Amino acid sequence: MNIGIDKMSFYTPAFYVDMVELAEARGIDPNKFTIGIGQDQMGFAPLSQDAVTMGANAALNMLSTDDIAEIDLVIFASESGIDHSKAGAVYIHRLLGLPKNCRAIEFKEACYAATAGLSYARNHVAAHPTKKALVIGSDIARYGLNTPGEPTQGAGAVAMLVAAEPRLLVLNDDNVYLTDDIMDFWRPLYSETACVQGKYSTEQYIRFFNDVWEQYQANTKATLVDFAALCFHLPYTKMGKKALDTIIETASPEKAEALMAYYQLSTKYSRQIGNIYTGSLYLGVLSLLEHDETLMPGDRLGLFSYGSGAVGEFFSATLAPDFRKQLYTTAHAAQLQARKQLTIAAYEDLFVASLPTDGSTYQIDDSLDQAPIKLTGMSEHMRLYTNKSC
Ligand code: HMG
Repeated sequence: MNIGIDKMSFYTPAFYVDMVELAEARGIDPNKFTIGIGQDQMGFAPLSQDAVTMGANAALNMLSTDDIAEIDLVIFASESGIDHSKAGAVYIHRLLGLPKNCRAIEFKEACYAATAGLSYARNHVAAHPTKKALVIGSDIARYGLNTPGEPTQGAGAVAMLVAAEPRLLVLNDDNVYLTDDIMDFWRPLYSETACVQGKYSTEQYIRFFNDVWEQYQANTKATLVDFAALCFHLPYTKMGKKALDTIIETASPEKAEALMAYYQLSTKYSRQIGNIYTGSLYLGVLSLLEHDETLMPGDRLGLFSYGSGAVGEFFSATLAPDFRKQLYTTAHAAQLQARKQLTIAAYEDLFVASLPTDGSTYQIDDSLDQAPIKLTGMSEHMRLYTNKSC
């Protein structure tokens, strides 16, 4: 029995910051952001969107009534979750109207957690083939104003429906993983922004990639020839290229050119949205599939997932016979097209806006946010969510 991703979609909030304007405001050559880092725009979440609402919005439009009836597991993977105790998946379960007899849990390990969620979901469907599992990676990446990490912020979510005989991507169960306790990036419980040793984190990303790729080759005897394309976790679009550059010379010049061209297609959404942490690798896969016209059913994709701290994983997925019918290319283009650009002053104001922490009642001004699922306010330490589509 094949198991894998039957449907996959993303959501990013209605606002973005232009990277040329951000560079100019910071007194930096814009080429550093657009070429050196490889980002054109940065998605920004207003107070009315948090990791829960973004995750629910990502899943909302791709789920049919039949899908919803068959889901008995929802996994919310996030490092910007909203509660130390209650799983974000429980809110999403209600907002999406998932069945009562459903397991709802939250996974954490930096940007890697959705990959762990996918494996858990795969095993769940293997044991219960008539059931489906919803895996959501959703995050807001915040490093702070005027920090080196600022151009690598972003916001968004990817939702994946895992099922038997999937129509998009078959997961090949060939995963190779690596854990090592390092301090490249972390966020203490008391902090709204991440701590990061930037240069060290990029070195560790590459070390983890090289390690799991080598082990994958040893386990499977596969080489680059066996992959149509490789997709990477994309904290910024230059990062995956740095990793790919370390192995590309093992391919023929023609193969290297093809892999690099596919890599560029896999970065198009991230260039406009920025780092979405847990969903980032999967946003890259969507970007590749929704911008490419040449990949064929049966083609194998190699996927590298990395979460600081750190855990890395390399695994492969095979394109299903009718994979193109499972894509939401037009809807995703419309979503990006409809976003509004923030001035740098507006972005800075919104960046420091925060919700009350004293239990008082607070109503969020969400008039510019047209998303169906929103956070409307807080009362008595509880977040108030609405889904206007039901
Ligand atoms: P920085 O130190 O300000 O930048 O921060 P830099 O000086 O290294 O320059 C960046 C690139 O721009 C360099 O290219 C420069 O040469 C180039 P490279 O040598 O890397 O190829 N450059 C220019 N190019 C054209 N024209 C110019 C120009 N000037 C410079 N005028 C850094 C960069 C990424 C470190 C910073 O943004 C940062 O700390 N970001 C956050 C950490 C991060 O994203 N790390 C990635 C690996 S860790 C990871 O992926 C996990 C993560 O997603 C979190 C999680 O798992 O949860 C982050």
